[in-house]
Amino acid sequence: MKRILITGGSSYLGQHLVPLATRQHEVCYTFYENDPFDLPYGEQLDLRDGSRVMKLISGFQPEAIIHTAGSNRSPDMEAVIRLGAHHVTEAARINNARLIHMSTDVIFDGRNAPYRETDPPNPIHDYGRAKGAAEAIVGQWANHVIVRTSLIYGLFIMDRSTEWMSAALAEGRPVKLFDNQLRQPVWAETLSLACLELATSNYCGVLNVAGDQSVSRAYFGFKLLDWWGINDRDLVEVGPSDSKWPLDTRLDLTMAREMLSTPLLGIDQVIDMTQNRPPASNFN
Ligand SMILES: NC(=O)c1ccc[n+]([C@@H]2O[C@H](COP(=O)([O-])OP(=O)(O)OC[C@H]3O[C@@H](n4cnc5c(N)ncnc54)[C@H](OP(=O)(O)O)[C@@H]3O)[C@@H](O)[C@H]2O)c1
Repeated sequence: MKRILITGGSSYLGQHLVPLATRQHEVCYTFYENDPFDLPYGEQLDLRDGSRVMKLISGFQPEAIIHTAGSNRSPDMEAVIRLGAHHVTEAARINNARLIHMSTDVIFDGRNAPYRETDPPNPIHDYGRAKGAAEAIVGQWANHVIVRTSLIYGLFIMDRSTEWMSAALAEGRPVKLFDNQLRQPVWAETLSLACLELATSNYCGVLNVAGDQSVSRAYFGFKLLDWWGINDRDLVEVGPSDSKWPLDTRLDLTMAREMLSTPLLGIDQVIDMTQNRPPASNFN
């Protein structure tokens, strides 16, 4: 058992990671505006406040920090991602904690896939630039892993894109699914287990962790609409996205396949495996 601090316990990923982490470790998780668990080891934290970050981490003395907070949906995104990475990295260094940092495949421009761990970021939008900058900051502390991943989904808690599609369709608004963006959706359970494995391993550096199946966003979108039983397709259109999004951000998973015991299941495998299990909460 280790002491693990999870930033963004309230993130979509965090809501899967925290329950799994608490089965094996002593956990402290942070949230900013919403605490989905309301547990005594949850701490409200604004990552932009360096002294609060240092105080919390120095007080808990984690052996590992899994830094998930700060996504493209965060208000004040740039500051949360960049300053947050700076404050967490500094506190990890001062307290000699291993740092597992969640990054993304959209740090790439999408023109040279599949991307290997040695490929440098070349972002084409603000979110990618902020996450690329965060990688450089995290890299200043030796005991780190930068986890580059793809679209995160779960089958027990609806992901935010499907939530958005579901709301739009219910309100009679059209939804466009992109058939020209290739990604490797990762099951939130897979990613959570991989992060926990990495928290206790010796590997340092970048690691690609994603589902071992490349699909278009349209394929992915339809799979999830099917899974959640959202069957009204009259307002669903399929077509290309505009050029501000990287088109092909497939990741080379050779290293992760060799290093991790967590299987990197593709979306078809995950859905087939769980087909007979009804959607239910995993907080038990
Ligand atoms: N979702 C994806 O498909 C995907 C794909 C690739 C990589 N990633 C990466 O994976 C990680 C998790 O993504 P996600 O989609 O699960 O995140 P998310 O659901 O959008 O959650 C964002 C998190 O950031 C926290 N936050 C926002 N402002 C904050 C602040 N000022 N101080 C501290 N925390 C703050 C939020 O807390 P509250 O909710 O409590 O306000 C929440 O926990 C991120 O690093 C993201 O870049 C995600």
